[in-house]
Amino acid sequence: MADGFPRTESESFANRRKALAALLEGRAALLAAGAPSPRNYPANAYPFRASSHFLYLVGRAIPGAFVLVEAGGSTLFAEPPDRDDAIWHGPRPSLDELRAQLGIERVEPLADLEARLRGRADLATLPPQDHHTARTLAELCGRTVLAGSGAKLTDERDVALAEAMIAIRLAHDEAAKAQLRAAAQASAVAHVAGMRATKHAKGEAEVCAAITAELRRRGMDDAYGPIVTVHGEILHAHGHEGALTPGDLLLCDVGGESHEGWASDITRTWPVTGRFSATQRAIYDVVLDANRRAIDKVRPGVSYRDAHETAKRAIVEGLVSLGILRGDVDGLLERGAANVFFPHGVGHLLGLDVHDMEDLGDRAGYAPGRTRSARFGDRYLRLDRDLVPGMAVTIEPGFYQVPGILADEALVGPLGADLDRGILAKYADVRGIRIEDDVLCTNGDPEVMTASCPKRAEEIEALMA
Ligand code: GLY
Ligand code: MN
Ligand code: MN
Repeated sequence: MADGFPRTESESFANRRKALAALLEGRAALLAAGAPSPRNYPANAYPFRASSHFLYLVGRAIPGAFVLVEAGGSTLFAEPPDRDDAIWHGPRPSLDELRAQLGIERVEPLADLEARLRGRADLATLPPQDHHTARTLAELCGRTVLAGSGAKLTDERDVALAEAMIAIRLAHDEAAKAQLRAAAQASAVAHVAGMRATKHAKGEAEVCAAITAELRRRGMDDAYGPIVTVHGEILHAHGHEGALTPGDLLLCDVGGESHEGWASDITRTWPVTGRFSATQRAIYDVVLDANRRAIDKVRPGVSYRDAHETAKRAIVEGLVSLGILRGDVDGLLERGAANVFFPHGVGHLLGLDVHDMEDLGDRAGYAPGRTRSARFGDRYLRLDRDLVPGMAVTIEPGFYQVPGILADEALVGPLGADLDRGILAKYADVRGIRIEDDVLCTNGDPEVMTASCPKRAEEIEALMA
């Protein structure tokens, strides 16, 4: 833990590989780290991040490497060091050194991969992110392998591997929990830096820089593209060109990943001046209530959809208490009132990926027999499983005034006069508020890994004063 970050011992990776091998029933899993993607010439590549399945089992991002997991132990295939490394990269470990460092049974040269696997019919694999690696896997496995998130799995060996990976990655081991906590903690500090920087910042970019600087100074990358915007109603507003104007709320959805690649995902919304207006404060407290009530649902055996429905109910109850909506809460929910103001799911799985294992489509997020709702808003619920101890999820309700939704008769029509536009107009200084925490399901109370990131309005105001 020299740099303040927990380090996963090689034994934990060995245990994960053993657990996977045990689920493969005699088959072998061939998983790729993936290939760096060049911007224009090969040496000028986009930052390389190994596939999460590979990181989970090996613990190091080795460009171009493959790991073969089977009952008799695992083999890593990697490029051996080369004389020219001295010029360009500095010395790299020999394959023997790599074997000792990673505690993996065998390490062999990448060049031997094809000969080693030729003719094997027991190989299962998963879609890599890049097409170059997909072509290599297709040749090695002797069948079509598609690249990209959600690529359809057509081979039953690959389906079985996907199910096995999901089974072991759904509930995090102790080493994974330590990584998630560390990522959450550092990202919480980063948000506090963003709150402090806001008063003297002229634009979104300056606040984004203050937040990500805290991650960079810990050697952390972003777990996803930071959202720092005064237009919180645009859910994926990735530009940071906006100016900060007194009266605006600033929505910041930023999370770093630990040195071993584990994600954090935090959203906080704060006023540019450091003080919420009365209308902003009223809506903020509605969203905070939804956040708290949904977090309380993160308990073993509870369906995550319950957390989603709980957040929706809290939003509608809150809007009824403010007079924006009128009538019976069940009826309003039935008529889609929550989806008008909170048109996304309450969160998702969190792990090595910020939306953990969404490269496998809905296979990880949806329990067998459960499927996405067809309803507007609810169709963006990314997780519908019963929670188990060790599962990490986000809880991220929000309130948004999306002009396109509020003008859509199909969505607001069913609310009729029970949506009071006159009262809603008084809340025009609230475009979007989201409050997002990272929560671990335990045998007892939910563990809010992002608890150190201020979220009560008074706390935020005191910090920014
Ligand atoms: N930051 C992406 C999300 O909240 O899902
Ligand atoms: Mn999230
Ligand atoms: Mn987020």
